[in-house]
Amino acid sequence: MKGHEEKLMRKLFWLRPAFQRHSQWWDWRSCKKRAPLTSTLLLLFFVLLFISLLSFIGWIDLGKYGGYSSQKAIQNFSKKPRNTLEFPLDCTSWNHTNTCPKNYQLSYNRCESFAGINCPEYFRWIHEDLKHWKQTGITKEMVEKARRTAHFRLTILDGKVYVEKFRQSIQTRALFTMWGIVQLMRSYPGKLPDLELMFDCDDRPVVQAKDFRQPGSEPPPLFRYCSDWRSLDIVFPDWSFWGWAETNIRPWRSVLNDIKEGNKRVKWEDRVPYAYWKGNPHVCPWRADLMKCNVTDQNDWNTRLYVQDWVAESQKGYKQSNLGDQCTHRYKIYIEGWAWSVSEKYILACNSPTLLMTLRWYDFFIRGMIPQHHYWPVRENNKCRSLKFAVEWGNNRTEKAKAIGEAGSRFIHEDLKIEYVYDYIFHLLNEYAKLLKYKPAVPPNAVELCSESLACPVDGNWRKFMEESLEKSPSESTPCTMPPPYQPQELKAFIDGKVRATKEVEAWENEYWDKQNKKHQ
Ligand SMILES: *[C@@H]1O[C@H](CO)[C@@H](O)[C@H](O)[C@H]1NC(C)=O
Ligand SMILES: *[C@@H]1O[C@H](CO)[C@@H](O)[C@H](O)[C@H]1NC(C)=O
Ligand SMILES: *[C@@H]1O[C@H](CO)[C@@H](O)[C@H](O)[C@H]1NC(C)=O
Ligand SMILES: *[C@@H]1O[C@H](CO)[C@@H](O)[C@H](O)[C@H]1NC(C)=O
Repeated sequence: MKGHEEKLMRKLFWLRPAFQRHSQWWDWRSCKKRAPLTSTLLLLFFVLLFISLLSFIGWIDLGKYGGYSSQKAIQNFSKKPRNTLEFPLDCTSWNHTNTCPKNYQLSYNRCESFAGINCPEYFRWIHEDLKHWKQTGITKEMVEKARRTAHFRLTILDGKVYVEKFRQSIQTRALFTMWGIVQLMRSYPGKLPDLELMFDCDDRPVVQAKDFRQPGSEPPPLFRYCSDWRSLDIVFPDWSFWGWAETNIRPWRSVLNDIKEGNKRVKWEDRVPYAYWKGNPHVCPWRADLMKCNVTDQNDWNTRLYVQDWVAESQKGYKQSNLGDQCTHRYKIYIEGWAWSVSEKYILACNSPTLLMTLRWYDFFIRGMIPQHHYWPVRENNKCRSLKFAVEWGNNRTEKAKAIGEAGSRFIHEDLKIEYVYDYIFHLLNEYAKLLKYKPAVPPNAVELCSESLACPVDGNWRKFMEESLEKSPSESTPCTMPPPYQPQELKAFIDGKVRATKEVEAWENEYWDKQNKKHQ
């Protein structure tokens, strides 16, 4: 009996390494290859059943073998998660060969059985951004026309990414944008369609709608970080989601965690009951104008405004600019810079209502946010009075103010988490590729992109942020399900609703200031 017992135990423990072998990422890629895992489990189940039977009839004393080790093995078995699957950064081999690893771009057949969840509403704007090409499709000529201002051309072919660089972008915007795209490929290997696109990393949109009203003059499809109501540029998440090395702003996943922790430290009621802003006022006239609203001995507009001095900050090691420590005031002001500002998502994430100065530009997510629900609209042309009113309104109605802060913050922490940023790019690229009327080829001057080609040659913050935002394994779920385009009347109702909510605040504000003026007459 003893020999039999031993054989059983050996079998049991032999199974565990076998299982671990199967947990390598390449075995997870296809449904078929998961079969050995299932049969291993089944086998284990029967072996255990047999052991318990033996134990039950008294043939084996299980306690002798460390109590419930077999049970624990099962726990580990089912718990051993996919997040141990990895494709690490391999700079040794990159340094030797200067070629991208072959394996991870391979397409894989995921089990598509589990239905994806619906994408957030703001994904519907993807259809709006691409609708100018709905009738005509996108031809090679149109893409070439977009080259005029582009920093790089991105080509995806058979699951590999290539880039042709035209000119240097501001700081490392282009580098981190490419990094983001490569991480998307790691999240959804083999899932992206063949395509070719032009990317402009500068601030302001350049494809003016008015230049393309005539039939036959089609706008060039050009990707960039923001656009406005007069332009046709296609918006794409900005580089800072993977970190902004020059200003020491870490990748989005880490920053979101920092802010979440920061939000726990000071309850909203206990925060300084004023409107806070910190930034560089010298980039545009409206920011300089905002500075006039700072508190002085004569006037208190309920604001506390500070200048961010990046040079001094960098010398002090950015100790003052930790984004997790900036949720200390009950209200936070968002004002655009030279164009949209990267600071927007950090400000909105604070659990304090954002006082949002009238927008000139939009990025990919702000169009989904609703005034009075996610943020409080503040006038561009009468900033100080508008801000003073907003803060007083909120301090008089703390429950309502708190709810706005929480709704805005929830939008950022949930609908804008990095997984959805990837899904947004995924769907944007898919919808764009559907419009292409030609099969792209790899341009002669293009180089293949992979995590190694981007990360191995850099160091400092650049390298640190890349390692931090490296997607180590394919996403555990399929991309969310893309919502349908807005019907014209649906879109009109949505925009009308936003206008109405803004006008309502302006009316309250007028009423308040009329009363104040009467009092002082
Ligand atoms: C289960 O896994 C943990 C850590 O992953 C390990 O420390 C523990 O020894 C494992 N237990 C068994 C019974 O294998
Ligand atoms: C690869 O080369 C870079 C310099 O080009 C060097 O800094 C880095 O340490 C090397 N990495 C490895 C793993 O050899
Ligand atoms: C605004 O006022 C506060 C409080 O007096 C002060 O600390 C701060 O430096 C001022 N900001 C600017 C930009 O002048
Ligand atoms: C806030 O409450 C005070 C006192 O009741 C009132 O005088 C003031 O007008 C209120 N302000 C706003 C904006 O609601």
